Amino acid sequence: MEIFNQIAPLKAFIHAQKQRGKSIGLVPTMGALHAGHLSLIEASKKENSITVCSIFVNPTQFNNPADLLKYPRTFDKDTLLLEKVECDAVFYPDNAEMYPETSLIKFDFSHLDKVMEGKFRPGHFSGVALVVSKLFHIVEPDHAYFGQKDWQQFAVIRQLSEELKFNLKLHSEPTSREQDGLAMSSRNLRLNEQQREQAIVFFRALSAAKTILLSGKSISEAKNLVKEIIEQQPGTILEYFEVADSKNLNLLENVKDSNRPIMCIAGFIGEIRLIDNMFLD
Ligand code: PAJ
Repeated sequence: MEIFNQIAPLKAFIHAQKQRGKSIGLVPTMGALHAGHLSLIEASKKENSITVCSIFVNPTQFNNPADLLKYPRTFDKDTLLLEKVECDAVFYPDNAEMYPETSLIKFDFSHLDKVMEGKFRPGHFSGVALVVSKLFHIVEPDHAYFGQKDWQQFAVIRQLSEELKFNLKLHSEPTSREQDGLAMSSRNLRLNEQQREQAIVFFRALSAAKTILLSGKSISEAKNLVKEIIEQQPGTILEYFEVADSKNLNLLENVKDSNRPIMCIAGFIGEIRLIDNMFLD
């Protein structure tokens, strides 16, 4: 597996591969890799001759400096995992390589980055769009792989890619979960034993909401139920629970107003912020 810290040698590597007719799959990550990330690598390996995984904790997408500081960094373990799944190349730049000068560009995705995550993490999706644009330009992948767990991120990147005419195909892969249903996340590494037990509450709340919504109950009843489930557990705070159209992210008051509704939830276990989602079908 090749490891690149700089853009120029990575580009040379990619161009050499392209000249040999190889297709390139990109899996952008912030490291602290888990089975969810590895499922994206597997998906890329199935469809591409060369898979590149980027590992970069992108400062411009953190609206909370403490979160950036405490974000887990486990590069040695990450490379072992990537070797094991036979990833071909890792791009592991430092901040100076990705942001040689303070960036002036800000993205605005209108409604897409104002609801849910966008409402509670102002500027977050602008930073995501900035770094993903850079990665798309640097790697020039034929395919790029993202997780359903960050559904709103995928919707934003889809808009970015369509509007800016990036010449690649985007893929969204299913959320990998622990046995009890907790969505895998790099931030789970920060949970202590008790918090790890508590963290399952978000999946429990989504599952309960799905059951009552499918039985014909209203979204406002589902919201009350979710609030009740989360509030019953000490140390847990609900930030939002919304049901949205999965394509345009319009928030719904009635599930019948969307062809494919998705339920999205975010909250805190102690200081650790977690998100999850579930389609209604
Ligand atoms: P990160 O949180 O490291 O996630 C990298 C990719 O893995 C994202 O596409 C995310 O949706 C996916 N992922 C995370 N948890 C998953 C799970 N349990 N199952 C399946 N896929 C999962 O998302 C980011 O990094 C960054 O915002 C990034 C896109 C790299 C830009 O900096």
